[in-house]
Amino acid sequence: MPQLAQRVGRAKPSAIMVIAEKAKQLKAAGRDIISFSIGVPNFLPGEHVYAAARESLSHDSGQYGSNRGAEALLDAFLGHIEALGFTGYTRMNLSIGIGAKQVLYNLAEALLDEGDEICFAAPYWTTYRDIADIVGAKANVMHCGPEQDYKLTPTQLDAALARKPRVFLFNNPSNPTGMVYTAGEIAALADVLAKHPDTWVITDDIYNSMVFDGIGYHNFVFARPELRDRVIFVDSVSKTYGMPGWRVGLVAGPEAVAKAVTTLNSNHITSLPEVITAAAVAAFSGSQDIPRAKCAEFAGKRDLVVAALGAIPGVACPRPQGAFYAFPDISVAFGKSHHGTKINNDVEFCAALLEAKGVACVPGSAFGEPRAMRISYTCPTAQLQPGLQRIQQFFAELT
Ligand SMILES: Cc1ncc(COP(=O)(O)O)c(C=O)c1O
Repeated sequence: MPQLAQRVGRAKPSAIMVIAEKAKQLKAAGRDIISFSIGVPNFLPGEHVYAAARESLSHDSGQYGSNRGAEALLDAFLGHIEALGFTGYTRMNLSIGIGAKQVLYNLAEALLDEGDEICFAAPYWTTYRDIADIVGAKANVMHCGPEQDYKLTPTQLDAALARKPRVFLFNNPSNPTGMVYTAGEIAALADVLAKHPDTWVITDDIYNSMVFDGIGYHNFVFARPELRDRVIFVDSVSKTYGMPGWRVGLVAGPEAVAKAVTTLNSNHITSLPEVITAAAVAAFSGSQDIPRAKCAEFAGKRDLVVAALGAIPGVACPRPQGAFYAFPDISVAFGKSHHGTKINNDVEFCAALLEAKGVACVPGSAFGEPRAMRISYTCPTAQLQPGLQRIQQFFAELT
């Protein structure tokens, strides 16, 4: 057989999917499984989104669309980002993709040559490392452990940017930690960015509508408008509107970057389908009641998760303030045994927890932090509470 390209060899199957698959198999075998593994919002979009999709089907042109995105979608997205605080953007600053993931791949292709450096904080969303590997970029990972609430400090950023990386990739609110940067923290990081003009800044902020405790969503360009010619904001309908399967991502940034993404679209995907576009327009411009209600619901679930984890001796969980993840430090369990099964690390911990208690969580090493595990808490409360109790029991049974 002829050889596959080297870049395929560099790509690894997602660790999140590996756990999710194992949980699925156990479920199919009749086990009672509670899954805290996949980062899905677990709700459906409003009826107005489905109505817009049906209406679009009734007059579908069946044609290719715009590489940048239909004007109606770009206008709806402009309205959405203006409400967030991005002012003065036009259609020429925007482009689309098949979800934020594909937008990020396009940006990596647009901004990074083989061997260029990209820096990002750990814990990171697993795909960041994969994107860097696939495009042949060098990843410089800035470690931000639980003792600093998993947040990047200005000093760490300053040191990383002194190396003149081509791209700094930032994520707020964070997957996997649920951490959210305050206005003051964003301003302090923005001051550092202003000192280092050679680096593009991608803010992958697709959980921007899921921020708790009144912190609000903040972006570097709100703090320092002059950064607009380097900051690239990535968004998606997946988490905000309960539409991960609809695959709509968008980018707002400098015109040259939006143009580059549009050119890549013309070679990769051409356009989004009309019916999907109509649904996304309805999501952005219609009632925001569902995202608002879900945000309040997730804040309540966060409280349950933090309280349950806080009751386990030795487990530290920096309090998440957004998205729908918690990322407890579980390293107190390492070196102990569960009914004769020795637990040496996060991967063995998650495997034993799944096997013994039927609870699926993702090992922190998938996100660059092997002391922790990720809990995605969007399941119904009727599952969340027993799932948390099982985790407590598991810890209590360690010897
Ligand atoms: C931080 C982050 N960025 C991007 C994505 C990808 O989102 P999309 O469904 O729009 O591709 C995810 C999905 O889990 C994510 O957590």
